[in-house]
Amino acid sequence: MAANMTQADVRGKRVFVRVDFNVPMDESLRITDETRIRAALPTIRYLREKGAKVILASHLGRPKEGFEAKLSLAPAAAALGRLIGTPVIMAPDCVGAETAALVDKMLPGDVLLLENLRFHAEEEKNDDAFAKELASLADLYVNDAFGSAHRAHASTAGIAAYLPACAGFLMEKELNFLGNALSAPERPFVAVIGGAKVKDKIGVVENLLTKVDTLIIGGGMAYTFLKAQGYDVGKSLLDEERLEFASAVLKQGAEKNVRILLPVDVVAAKEISAASPRRFTSAAEIAPDEMALDIGPETAKLFSAVVREARTVLWNGPMGVFEIEAFAAGTNAIAAALADCTGVTIVGGGDSGAAVEKAGLADKMTHVSTGGGASLEFLEGKALPGVTALKQGD
Ligand code: 3PG
Repeated sequence: MAANMTQADVRGKRVFVRVDFNVPMDESLRITDETRIRAALPTIRYLREKGAKVILASHLGRPKEGFEAKLSLAPAAAALGRLIGTPVIMAPDCVGAETAALVDKMLPGDVLLLENLRFHAEEEKNDDAFAKELASLADLYVNDAFGSAHRAHASTAGIAAYLPACAGFLMEKELNFLGNALSAPERPFVAVIGGAKVKDKIGVVENLLTKVDTLIIGGGMAYTFLKAQGYDVGKSLLDEERLEFASAVLKQGAEKNVRILLPVDVVAAKEISAASPRRFTSAAEIAPDEMALDIGPETAKLFSAVVREARTVLWNGPMGVFEIEAFAAGTNAIAAALADCTGVTIVGGGDSGAAVEKAGLADKMTHVSTGGGASLEFLEGKALPGVTALKQGD
């Protein structure tokens, strides 16, 4: 792979850019969060300025078979056109004669968006012939879809075998920020891990235990850890099968000198509903018919103080059911503490990314990842197929 995109001669060339425009849309197909489209702008603008013909490709959602109007990328083309101030040509498909003809007519600086790659089942199968057909549209391949780098699909992996390949600016930025945090963090290094399910975070917790100074565990997953310590957690989320894992983590923390912080108080209610009466209670006094739906104010204070003092903070996963305002205070407190921290603050994508956006604090973070699953797998220490594919051409 060209070490980076700026070393490739792109003038007049057809450049296939895999972006991640898998953006949320409402019922009327309005994009509700354009972050991922904005994040691809530096690469798109650079290529246009250099006189490339920019062919963008992405998936959207998980179509079952073939074309689905509600999963068309047309709204993304319109949004991108508005952001770059020039119309984006929307192709009717990502392969086929009609699409190839549109590409043939492109002029330097033109931008064309291929239709949803997943309208072809071959995309997710990483089908070789399909990858080759995609590659036939272009002279150079740029992967800027960090959010999809954990998928070994035709447009993220297979295609790199057929074209000179390199990473786009967003991909490079994501790998640098997340990579540096893991390999050379300024200390103290604090990780805040939350979210509902222990099973989704096993790999991350295991990997971070070997790297951080303090591991803060909140969100629904924390109650399995509290139960492992002998607390009664009432009807809070509990993963019985992972109690042993939780005990082992707590033991390893002590052995490795990693401080592990769990909630000391919680917001408890009988229903996951804004209307349900709620109370603050010690983590040791959750009633049998209650569930903990957020960390309590004492915990928020404790966690925030540790976050503020850190030199590197990595945050992945909300502290409670933050979609409901009544249970969002803990997550908002963590977002505010990261915003106050003068060290490096990195937010793994997905829910925590959405939470800092919602709190209006995204621009106060060193980096908010555009990858949900991809950032999680990266933090687990796994190789991402989309990144490995770029290296194979070296
Ligand atoms: C994401 O939103 O995490 C990426 O776009 C990948 O989407 P997927 O989980 O449907 O592969």
